[in-house]
Amino acid sequence: MNTLALKDETLLKLSQEDYPVEPGQPCTVDMFRPEDALGVARCFYTVYGDSYSIDTVYSPASLIEANATGNLYSVVARTPKGDVVGYCALFRSLACKFLYEQGQLVVLPSYRNEAIATQVVKYGLEVVAPRLPVHEVFGKAVCNHTISQKIGDECGFRETALEIDYIPEEAYKKEKSATGPVSALLMFRCCQDRPHDIYLPETYEDVLHFIYTGLPITRTFKKPDTGVAFHTKSRVQCHVFGFQKVARLNVEAIGSDFEETIATIEGQAGKTGSTIIQVYLPLGNPAVGDAVALLRAKGYFLGGALPRWFDQDGLLLQKIDSPPHFNSIRLYSERAGKLLEFVRTDWEKAERR
Ligand SMILES: CC(C)(COP(=O)(O)OP(=O)(O)OC[C@H]1O[C@@H](n2cnc3c(N)ncnc32)[C@H](O)[C@@H]1OP(=O)(O)O)[C@@H](O)C(=O)NCCC(=O)NCCS
Repeated sequence: MNTLALKDETLLKLSQEDYPVEPGQPCTVDMFRPEDALGVARCFYTVYGDSYSIDTVYSPASLIEANATGNLYSVVARTPKGDVVGYCALFRSLACKFLYEQGQLVVLPSYRNEAIATQVVKYGLEVVAPRLPVHEVFGKAVCNHTISQKIGDECGFRETALEIDYIPEEAYKKEKSATGPVSALLMFRCCQDRPHDIYLPETYEDVLHFIYTGLPITRTFKKPDTGVAFHTKSRVQCHVFGFQKVARLNVEAIGSDFEETIATIEGQAGKTGSTIIQVYLPLGNPAVGDAVALLRAKGYFLGGALPRWFDQDGLLLQKIDSPPHFNSIRLYSERAGKLLEFVRTDWEKAERR
């Protein structure tokens, strides 16, 4: 059976069972074991109902396989009875084998505010990450509350970008914790630096200086060339996330056909119902200035910087079909507040254009 079928089967089982996890049990933070898989599904079902966007968490066999093959490194908080009361996972990023995402953080409501989330995140960083070829870890902290941003801050992650409105309100219907779509704050933590040159597009020089000033990494800033590009063909990987209605474009090469390439992918993304397009540009490419100018002319606005996204750093630009819900973004730090100001101002400029 495939993951989707297994997910449906588990969701049916969970909807029919009456299994309250007894509150107040002690718990231990540990690597995932196969016998935790149903407890993980139960944990997500309790918090999100059937609306969590990643099918694997609802599919015990797929979760076990992903952990066995090294596609996922899951961490659980487990009670002596074997209940899973907290969970997070580390997994390799698509475009760089040294960049890992730490995500899927969840704690059962009856076990919250007891530092369980903090402990599973720390376990991921201190126990799991050192076993892997991890140079940089990032997380996407949701902005309908500030708890995971606070945990990230305490664990040494720094805010570098905002993905605006990319999680539908529907994901939070069970806990009723969002009014409108939810944005995510990207936070990065360096484990091993790789100093390299990056080209700062003129329009974003100030904000990029601001972002990089707060990061414990070494980069040499250069001015992009204009009108170069372009001895090569563009190479763009597009991933569509149906539930979020997001098309994510990883631009691996910026070529003379960049404008047509983006237009073609935008057309295809529109047909799949995507309402948000996120473009990740390589900051180590001297043509990045021209690519930014072109995207801004098409209504894209700033997201922020992404250390080691392509092994070299990336720059996020985004375009959204409807006005962003800036006022419902909740942020923990002053630095994140400043980043939001840059993003919002750039969106306003895009609107005026
Ligand atoms: C976010 C979540 C995982 C936090 O789990 P948790 O185990 O309660 O978090 P912790 O107890 O480790 O709390 C971390 C910090 O946030 C604070 N905190 C926790 N809940 C809080 C609340 N409701 N209001 C204000 N602060 C809160 C804690 O006091 C702690 O601060 P401290 O280190 O100064 O003591 C949990 O609320 C959850 O599962 N939410 C729904 C899913 C979700 O949003 N996941 C995050 C995706 S990025």
